[in-house]
Amino acid sequence: MDISSFQLLLLISNCFLSVHALFLPPGNTTEHMYSSYDYIIVGGGVAGLVVANRLSENSSVTVLVLEAGELDNSEARITVPGFVGHGYNPAYVWNFTTAPQEFLDNSSRPYCQGHVIGGSSIINGLVATRGSLAEYDAWEALGNPGWNWRGLLPYFKKSENFTANDIEREAANSLHIRPEISQHGFSGPLQIGYPRFFYHQSGNFLRGLSELGMPIINDPNAGTSAGGMMVPSTISAGNQSRMDSRRAYLDNVMNRPNLHIASEQTVTRIQIETSSNQQIPPFGYRKRAHGVEFAGSGNYRQSVACTREVILAAGAIISPVLLQVSGIGPVPLLRELNITMEVSLPGVGNNLQDHAMVGAFYNYTEPGLYSTRNLTGDVLQQAQEEYNINRTGPLTAPLISTVAFPSLRSLAPNWPSIIQSINATSPEHYLPPGTNRHPHLIAGFDRQREILLGLFERTDVGALEILADSIGTLTVSIQRPFSRGFVRAASSDLLANNTSLASNIRLDPRYCANPADCSILLAGLHFNNRLISTTAMQQLIPSPSPPWDNTTDRDETALLEAIHQNLATEFHPCGTTAMLPFELGGVVDAHLVVYGTDNLRVVDAGIMPIIPAAHLQAAVYAIAEKAADMIKQDNSALGHRGPDA
Ligand SMILES: Cc1cc2nc3c(=O)[nH]c(=O)nc-3n(C[C@H](O)[C@H](O)[C@H](O)COP(=O)(O)OP(=O)(O)OC[C@H]3O[C@@H](n4cnc5c(N)ncnc54)[C@H](O)[C@@H]3O)c2cc1C
Ligand SMILES: *[C@@H]1O[C@H](CO)[C@@H](O)[C@H](O)[C@H]1NC(C)=O
Ligand SMILES: *[C@@H]1O[C@H](CO)[C@@H](O)[C@H](O)[C@H]1NC(C)=O
Ligand SMILES: *[C@@H]1O[C@H](CO)[C@@H](O)[C@H](O)[C@H]1NC(C)=O
Ligand SMILES: *[C@@H]1O[C@H](CO)[C@@H](O)[C@H](O)[C@H]1NC(C)=O
Ligand SMILES: *[C@@H]1O[C@H](CO)[C@@H](O)[C@H](O)[C@H]1NC(C)=O
Ligand SMILES: *[C@@H]1O[C@H](CO)[C@@H](O)[C@H](O)[C@H]1NC(C)=O
Ligand SMILES: *[C@@H]1O[C@H](CO)[C@@H](O)[C@H](O)[C@H]1NC(C)=O
Ligand SMILES: *[C@@H]1O[C@H](CO)[C@@H](O)[C@H](O)[C@H]1NC(C)=O
Ligand SMILES: *[C@@H]1O[C@H](CO)[C@@H](O)[C@H](O)[C@H]1NC(C)=O
Ligand SMILES: *[C@@H]1O[C@H](CO)[C@@H](O)[C@H](O)[C@H]1NC(C)=O
Ligand SMILES: *[C@@H]1O[C@H](CO)[C@@H](O)[C@H](O)[C@H]1NC(C)=O
Ligand SMILES: *[C@@H]1O[C@H](CO)[C@@H](O)[C@H](O)[C@H]1NC(C)=O
Repeated sequence: MDISSFQLLLLISNCFLSVHALFLPPGNTTEHMYSSYDYIIVGGGVAGLVVANRLSENSSVTVLVLEAGELDNSEARITVPGFVGHGYNPAYVWNFTTAPQEFLDNSSRPYCQGHVIGGSSIINGLVATRGSLAEYDAWEALGNPGWNWRGLLPYFKKSENFTANDIEREAANSLHIRPEISQHGFSGPLQIGYPRFFYHQSGNFLRGLSELGMPIINDPNAGTSAGGMMVPSTISAGNQSRMDSRRAYLDNVMNRPNLHIASEQTVTRIQIETSSNQQIPPFGYRKRAHGVEFAGSGNYRQSVACTREVILAAGAIISPVLLQVSGIGPVPLLRELNITMEVSLPGVGNNLQDHAMVGAFYNYTEPGLYSTRNLTGDVLQQAQEEYNINRTGPLTAPLISTVAFPSLRSLAPNWPSIIQSINATSPEHYLPPGTNRHPHLIAGFDRQREILLGLFERTDVGALEILADSIGTLTVSIQRPFSRGFVRAASSDLLANNTSLASNIRLDPRYCANPADCSILLAGLHFNNRLISTTAMQQLIPSPSPPWDNTTDRDETALLEAIHQNLATEFHPCGTTAMLPFELGGVVDAHLVVYGTDNLRVVDAGIMPIIPAAHLQAAVYAIAEKAADMIKQDNSALGHRGPDA
């Protein structure tokens, strides 16, 4: 592909980065880094860069971001929406593998997360959804004052620059794209918009849902998202390219001398000390983070001190593990790994939730149908030319912009019996065995379950997601899982013996540990078969093969086995450093401060106590914006303490 003027611009801005001393490339770190910073942010992903940007708005505080990954090169595979799913530089991902999934087929699943400045927003699917109002109100109901829809809406708005008026009227009408302006922000750094191309299969999907009585939502991000809908994307409406946390929150503040970004530096431990000789029950002596230990290439360990706070933003898989190896976690685990206990916190690494999915394929065979399958050879070349010159055409369309979030009621005729069977078992029954079964965790899950069951009865909250592509895949994904997994350090040194960090982490999502989750996926596959039988969908001439055809549809055992074999992830880990009261297994309080510490916070997807029925990035941006305000406020009494070069 030719270098477009846009890419050229980015190239220039990359050069711009390296002539300033603020971006610290590997090998350059020690000479130019201060020995202490006011704030150290661990992880330059979605949440980390939002917090870095906001805290460094005040030129008299110093901020350091330590990021394990490198800077992306604005390559087309990253920036062009039509290339979502076409791969990326393998260095941009952490290569996790799950434990064998014993409630499925006993196989492990590959599990990637962003390992690059911008984190998972560099490789994600661009879907921008917030979920439903009731799901955020549930966070507050769990004991987190102010963490409700009303409290987060200003931050959803603050983060975004939403563009609605770029869509042709015809598409807007036929695809129900009618945003509620009052629910959006127009001056935030994160550009959110719609692509300039829609496959006509989107219309069939929405009309098919209507035939089945499902509501079509005009604006999925206005508080009610149960139904079928077109979703906006994290793309800039003007140039139709990926918008991620690097481009939204970092590139335009690289001229701030008080913000340092060190890439290819992997944090291995938070340095904890006793901050007062006063006992704070039940945590013992109060602790504070005084710095972090990190490793560049060659695994050489260095450390840097902080005067105010350490903010963990390493994502829901690594942040809890960093706490564990720093002595903050479940006591049996710390003992097993011979780690000195700083704070006994049973919740660290537990309460892992994810959106498990199954990609069922119905193969649209309508003669002449235009789909992403056409994008090869000359057609692709033409599409690339059109994208480069005009920023129009099929390459502006991400893989997914057409989805449904059916409520349990609209999905499964037998919904009351599903609710009853979940309610009938004791809360601890499906929790992980052994050291992950602390009374606080059981109490916390019991409370979550009660709230989840309440949400299940509502018609305005999704239970499942159906993601429609252009070739005939209708992926079903469980949105309100009752299974809980965990992450744990497998070694006290995450880079022991030069092994990769991912290999020192045990990740077990325990998909379908509670069989209710798989039975909802099953209901989703039955629903798909009803959907493809509608008049609107029959126009596409779906021709599924076993196991997705309607012969298998009548054989529950075969279909369940297909679910077990094909289950994969939407890559939405969260909940592992849950914001919950301590007695409910919480790791952070409602100011996102780790219990038992003065100045250590977690700000990333891990703090969500319950996963929303939505792709997570919009919520993570909003959480990070809210957290930045809290951090500023909580430190407003402090004077200037750095830099100390
Ligand atoms: C393949 C994929 C597709 C997705 N698709 C969508 C989508 O379409 N829509 C949507 O809304 N969401 C999507 N998501 C989810 C969304 O991107 C994440 O929820 C979001 O990025 C989480 O933000 P975070 O800040 O918690 O973590 P991340 O954005 O993952 O950032 C964590 C950062 O910390 C760094 N880090 C970790 N450990 C260390 C360490 N020890 N030292 C230094 N740095 C460290 C990482 O390298 C990374 O840069 C997708 C995710 C993936 C992986
Ligand atoms: C290191 O930083 C200095 C000062 O900013 C810069 O001149 C030099 O080119 C950098 N070296 C590398 C290898 O990036
Ligand atoms: C992940 O695996 C790829 C391919 O093997 C490798 O290039 C990359 O460096 C790995 N990522 C990390 C963070 O180790
Ligand atoms: C998975 O392994 C367990 C224990 O070895 C076994 O009991 C079970 O039958 C296996 N399940 C499948 C689907 O193979
Ligand atoms: C918001 O987006 C619009 C249209 O894409 C653009 O004209 C405007 O400059 C953007 N505003 C900001 C603050 O980025
Ligand atoms: C545990 O840690 C202590 C103190 O660091 C050390 O002396 C001891 O050898 C360790 N034990 C094991 C089994 O690693
Ligand atoms: C989908 O249908 C086409 C046309 O009938 C056929 O050639 C192709 O093999 C089918 N693909 C699958 C995976 O079933
Ligand atoms: C797309 O591909 C299909 C199947 O190969 C073909 O029938 C159709 O004509 C193509 N459409 C366009 C616009 O190229
Ligand atoms: C770009 O748009 C112009 C005006 O609509 C059109 O004439 C031209 O063919 C387009 N170029 C490409 C490569 O699609
Ligand atoms: C769950 O069961 C309890 C009694 O065991 C009952 O009080 C409660 O109403 C039930 N909840 C739901 C949602 O059915
Ligand atoms: C590192 O290597 C040493 C010596 O080979 C071995 O004893 C130790 O168990 C290894 N540690 C880990 C965490 O693998
Ligand atoms: C099964 O699918 C075929 C092909 O889509 C359709 O003609 C038939 O009516 C379906 N049967 C049932 C029972 O839904
Ligand atoms: C900026 O930070 C300094 C030092 O902490 C503080 O005194 C000052 O009030 C802050 N300014 C604003 C506008 O918050």
